[in-house]
This record gives sequence, structure tokens and C-alpha cells, in this order.
Amino acid sequence: MKKDKILVIGACGQIGVELTLTLRKIYGDTNVVASDLREEHELLKGSGPYVSLDVMNKEMLHVLVIRHNITQIYLLAAILSATGEKNPLLAWHINMQSLLNVLDIAKEEGLDKVYWPSSIAVFGPNSPKETTPQHTVIEPTTIYGISKFAGERWCEYYNHRYGVDVRSLRYPGLISYKSAPGGGTTDYAIEIFHEAQEEKKYTCFLSEDTYLPMMYMPDAIRATIELMEAEQPKISVRSSYNLGAMSFSPKEIAAEIKKHIPDFTISYQSDYRQQIADGWPKSINDELARKDWGWKPDYDLPKMVTDMLKNL
Ligand code: NAD
Ligand code: SER
Repeated sequence: MKKDKILVIGACGQIGVELTLTLRKIYGDTNVVASDLREEHELLKGSGPYVSLDVMNKEMLHVLVIRHNITQIYLLAAILSATGEKNPLLAWHINMQSLLNVLDIAKEEGLDKVYWPSSIAVFGPNSPKETTPQHTVIEPTTIYGISKFAGERWCEYYNHRYGVDVRSLRYPGLISYKSAPGGGTTDYAIEIFHEAQEEKKYTCFLSEDTYLPMMYMPDAIRATIELMEAEQPKISVRSSYNLGAMSFSPKEIAAEIKKHIPDFTISYQSDYRQQIADGWPKSINDELARKDWGWKPDYDLPKMVTDMLKNL
């Protein structure tokens, strides 16, 4: 069993629940402290320590880190793209200040490692749409993307200036069944499964040919752990790595679901999230992640759909 003591912030969210449970398997239940603003998630109950925490309260966070002898922090608390557009100043404040609190405490306490996720949302309408490269035009137009891009610059700054070992991935849209999504533009690709099973029909808030980069949660969790366990010299990107797995449109995922549920039908009614999606890449070039620390996704669209429908 490894000796690290880990704090997961935002542990009750879509990624947090599954990441916390996986980290507990690797590092031991008592060595992974879960924390969130919300009440403890049902799936976390009884699996290890849980602390109620507002990451915006730097003093409380600092006390928690010292009291639990924390050596690594995974910061997952954030306001996502669709929710962010409803209250841009709040999204900026929470997404930025949470990261600055964590980076600063990591510097002061000499923590071993920090993990903070970025997103494909850092790219904007002027970035190349197909197989978007790691280094290219980055002009995000959503407040979520702007905060992720600024966060990436802060991560690189804290690494270069203070030696904080902070690592990051630009996740694509994540698809999962254990914990509900938290207000993103890619959430349609989760809603569609629930509606297909319960109602046999779904009205999608994106148009049928809106391609976006996507990933199944087991791949995202494995990528996160592989990045965090990679030896330091292998990490050449200190802002955030492009990360890819699959790319599909609402029409394509609907067709794949129809293979399992033949009477499923989909209709389309775009809302404000269409504009957000239209500014993002259709697919991602993740060659640096593959070269530096051996990233390779396991799930494509058919394999993901089969697994989702089996588990929901
Ligand atoms: P989520 O919204 O499902 O979970 C975030 C969690 O943070 C929630 O449980 C929320 O209660 C908690 N939280 C919010 N404010 C907090 C605060 N002040 N103090 C403590 N906890 C607080 O989000 P997620 O989908 O799990 O995303 C986690 C991270 O991954 C975010 O940074 C997000 O931007 C990034 N990301 C997610 C996706 C995706 O598709 N889910 C894609 C790209 C990047
Ligand atoms: N899935 C996220 C969102 O739609 C992308 O970061 O907000």
C-alpha cells in the first residue's frame, strides 16, 4: 500500500465519486479524505473519511491539509460550462479562487502533488476544429473556458516558479452512470441514456451533427491516475495535456443506442448550449499524452454504449 495521504475536493461530483473510490482502492480507504460542499454521496458512505469543506475558505482548507497530513490534493470543485454562462462572475470567482487556494497551500506546505482538471473548453471558435493540437490558437469564448485557460497558466506558473508538482488533463465530455453530471454542455450524452431507457425518446439540446470529443469515465479515471503516477521527467506539459478517446454527434450516439433499444427515437431542439458546443473542437490530438506517459483509451462509441446500457 502506498504512503501518500490524499484530499479530494469536490468528491461528490460526477468525477469525484468514481475517482475517490478508485484512489481508495490504490492508496487505502483511510488515506483518501473525500470533501465537498454537498452532503456525502451515497456511494461514498462507509468507504472512508468524509469532511464537509468549502474550498473557497482557504483557512479551513489549510487546517484540513495540516490536520490530516495531506500530501496530494485532487481539486475537482468547479462550475461547469452551461451553469457558468448563467452566472459568469460567480463561475470565474469559484473556478479561479479554488485553484489559487490549493496551489498556494501546496507551495506553503510543500505538498508532493496536485491534480486539477482543465477541459476541451479552453479552445474557441478560432482554434482548429479537427484533431485540435496541444499548442494552437486558444481563444475561449465561454467564462468556463476562460477560467480553465487562466487556470492552466497558473498551474504552469506555480510549477515553473515554485516547483509545485501540479498536473492536469484537458478532459473531453465525460460519460458515466454512477454519479450525475454537474451542468455541462456535454451532459446530453448522459441524459440520452436515461431517457432512452425510461421514455424510449429524447429531445436533444444540441443539433444532430454537433460533433464533440467524448470519453467514458473508466478511461478518464485511468488517465488521471496514470498521469499522477508518471515519473516527473515524463511530464513535459505543465499547463494541461490534451486527452482524447472518441468523437461523435447526437445522431451517431442515438443510432448506436437504437441498436440496443430499437424503438428509441430522438428529436432536436437546440438551446443556448448549441453556441457553446459550436465553439469547441470536434476531435482532439492527444499525441503528447500518448508519447510522454503512454496514454491509450480503451472505450470507443459502441463499447461505451454497450457498457452504459448494461450498468444503468
Ligand atoms: P461536478 O459539478 O459534477 O462536481 C463538482 C463538485 O464540486 C460538486 O460535487 C460540488 O458540490 C463541488 N463543489 C462546488 N463548489 C464547491 C466548493 N466551493 N467547495 C467544495 N466543493 C465544491 O463536476 P465534475 O463533472 O465532476 O467535474 C470535476 C472537474 O472536472 C471540474 O473542474 C470540471 O471542470 C472538470 N471537467 C469535467 C468534465 C466533465 O465532462 N464532467 C469535462 C472536462 C473537465
Ligand atoms: N463536459 C464539460 C462541460 O460541458 C466540458 O468541460 O462543461
